[in-house]
Amino acid sequence: MSKSTTQASEHEETRNLTFPVRRGHLGPAVLDINKLYSEHGLFTYDPGFVATASCESAITYIDGEKGILLYRGYPIEQLAEKSTFLEVAYLLLYGELPLKHELERFLDAIRHHTLINESLLRFFNGFHHDAHPMAMLTGVVGSLSAFYPDAMEARDRSQQELFAQRIIAKMPTIAAAAYKHSVGHPFVYPRNELDYANNLLYMLFALPTADYVANPVAAQALDLLFVLHADHEQNASTSTVRLAGSSGTNPYAAITAGIGCLWGPAHGGANEAVINMLTEIADIKNIPRYVARAKDKNDTFRLMGFGHRVYKNYDPRAKIIRSMTYKVLENLGHRSDPLLDLAMKLEEIALKDEYFIERKLYPNVDFYSGIIYRALGIPTSMFTVMFAIARSVGWVAHWQEMVNDPEQRLGRPRQLYMGPLQRDYLQMSQRAGKVGSGI
Ligand code: CMC
Repeated sequence: MSKSTTQASEHEETRNLTFPVRRGHLGPAVLDINKLYSEHGLFTYDPGFVATASCESAITYIDGEKGILLYRGYPIEQLAEKSTFLEVAYLLLYGELPLKHELERFLDAIRHHTLINESLLRFFNGFHHDAHPMAMLTGVVGSLSAFYPDAMEARDRSQQELFAQRIIAKMPTIAAAAYKHSVGHPFVYPRNELDYANNLLYMLFALPTADYVANPVAAQALDLLFVLHADHEQNASTSTVRLAGSSGTNPYAAITAGIGCLWGPAHGGANEAVINMLTEIADIKNIPRYVARAKDKNDTFRLMGFGHRVYKNYDPRAKIIRSMTYKVLENLGHRSDPLLDLAMKLEEIALKDEYFIERKLYPNVDFYSGIIYRALGIPTSMFTVMFAIARSVGWVAHWQEMVNDPEQRLGRPRQLYMGPLQRDYLQMSQRAGKVGSGI
């Protein structure tokens, strides 16, 4: 049967099905197809989950057409201007902005957990000095499950809270240790009198041989980047955390699955890929050649930091980062960065190009963030680690929402099977001319 005949007959078959519709507070309604297989013997087919809602969620909302991002209802622009990363973490985890004493208690709890077990520190020596920091982060965060087996009590609210506090507190310590290992410097312990961003900069850049005080503009910029990266509803890494967590695994292992997913250049690894791309482009005169490559379907090259599954408009986070980039560079004493000029010119050229206009491809959060990280002295290989520190808040909030949602079950997608029909095993002597298309 030809493909079109198959489609026509299946269209016929599904035409009269009706489904309950569920309406969220914002965004498109969803068809509830939970009974589609049990009642009609059909699956749906949606590679990449382009039109599939995997859960109900009350944490973050994106309107991709309008370029709107809300955390618990609050616009990202307001949070970026007025809030701090740990206040946003509280908001994402608990659903409301904290009262003064609630925030103080939360900050105290985070401070209480910033150290990591000394034996975890020794894990780093098992990595070669040039190991990618994301590989170290994956290994060491995964190992936290060995230290906190009680976290398996996923339904226990106090364990959930402890897990959240430990992840948020320990991610910077682990990230900084990965960096220190890669440059061969001694590990620097956290200082609990410092706030989150200052503490991270201190652990990254302090040496035992001298006093270190982070530039306040650097700390402020880092905190703002963390606010912008804290959550993004059902993105690939968050969905990975939910899926991994749905089996009841240790939540630290579920977070590790999310870190692994984030690393890829289509997701959080794009911030590193953008800087590599800009470095390769090197000169404004080369931009048209790279734009042509991005448009060429026979070339795998894409403009990194451009395009988004959900945003069909300017990513609101990119807008905020773009506008703060010059200020940060100036305040940190970098008059400019040639990569910033290159990035702005690339954006200008791409946004006037019919290919990008037609497909609604705009700069995303990763397009300008790397330029700020560079100005802060953070090496390119650490960019995605910075993203992971911030996004760990979203991962934990979604993991908690999932384990507390009575509707959530083991995540287990179905498939459209296109392999061989059932057949009998062939003895070696029977295989010649019938099988053997491998190596
Ligand atoms: N450069 C050139 N063409 C692109 C790009 C790009 N960056 N992004 C999408 N397209 C084209 C794509 O080739 C396709 O064209 P056509 O319709 O002719 O086949 C069309 O636009 C739609 O793209 P898609 O791949 O079907 O869209 P998607 O929703 O599956 O992919 C994406 C989204 C983010 C993976 C993709 O835009 C991309 O690869 N961007 C570059 C990597 C990047 O910056 N990732 C960071 C995403 S935001 C932060 C985060 O998630 O962590």
